[in-house]
Amino acid sequence: PPGWLTLGIETSCDETAVSVVRDGRQVLSSIVASQIPEHQKFGGVVPEVASRQHVETITQVIDEALREAEVSLEQIHQVAVTYGPGLVGALLVGVAAAKALAYGRRLPLNGVNHIEGHLFANFIQSPSLEPPLLALIVSGGHTHLVHMKQYGVYEILGKTRDDAAGEAFDKVARVLGLGYPGGPLIDAAARQGDPRAIDFPRAVVTDHPWDFSFSGLKSAVLNHVNTVRMKGHDVQVADVAASFQQAVVDVLVNKTLDCAVTNGIKQVVLSGGVAANSLLRQTLADRCREQGIAFCAPDLALCTDNGAMIACVGYYDYSLGIRSRWNLNAVAGLSI
Ligand code: KG4
Ligand code: ZN
Repeated sequence: PPGWLTLGIETSCDETAVSVVRDGRQVLSSIVASQIPEHQKFGGVVPEVASRQHVETITQVIDEALREAEVSLEQIHQVAVTYGPGLVGALLVGVAAAKALAYGRRLPLNGVNHIEGHLFANFIQSPSLEPPLLALIVSGGHTHLVHMKQYGVYEILGKTRDDAAGEAFDKVARVLGLGYPGGPLIDAAARQGDPRAIDFPRAVVTDHPWDFSFSGLKSAVLNHVNTVRMKGHDVQVADVAASFQQAVVDVLVNKTLDCAVTNGIKQVVLSGGVAANSLLRQTLADRCREQGIAFCAPDLALCTDNGAMIACVGYYDYSLGIRSRWNLNAVAGLSI
């Protein structure tokens, strides 16, 4: 029925996020409590710290999401929550909170796949977008090329063999001494650098054209930095950042375009935290336009983890007749 309100909860990693979404695509509120400062002192996400932060802040974030949406808990129709993939202890906090709310009020509960959530950020961004489409999902934990044929029907056409794209950004940023999280810092540093300064490798996965591999690139950056330092020279951080970023973007864009063209898919969407990368967004948009392929990428706030994308998936799952049971559990290694 119109006016359906979904509460979306996301705690798979280092953001405690809650959102109220009307009719699946209209975001009434989206609150994201980032734990980045808590993890920065360790140079990366510490799972136990993440779980404890979620436990501490979850109810406050739920209250804020309801307040900003100007609705009361009594008006919510459905609760959706990320149940995987992610850090198991972090996921369990969101799952337990969602169950408590839904059980207490006898509301339908929908466990949502986090990767599917990233893809659905595009449906919030573009209210008229409909499958079929090809999604490039690039986050800290995932690099996937997914053919969404219709709601709930997916085929994975490519994925990473080793590191995820975001993981490569984070590791290279650490090697360059830029800090955590690395993606936005490399993105910024690269603006002052020359992307042609160093010719880093563009990995080809011979037996599967749309699979990715970033570990060789990461090692190449590490070797370059070590060699320069051993010779007693200063590392040109901006040039290394720009050349690394160009190598990642070339690979992501070329494989996505080849996959779309080969499979006759006319729409490409981008999503996940790395979709916030300015060069990736621009390059993929340009190349799609050249090929006559429609392109969509969410605004930055919808690219990184948020509750709205989870509510959106929950809404569509519910309309397909899908319901989670009260024994819903976290699944750390859930695949799309
Ligand atoms: O989707 P997300 O918020 O969390 C996961 O589900 O993993 O993605 C986080 C990842 C991190 O690796 C971060 O470095 C990367 O997204 N990221 C970026 C940018 N902003 C965030 N990578 C490249 N360029 C950016 N501007
Ligand atoms: Zn994510």
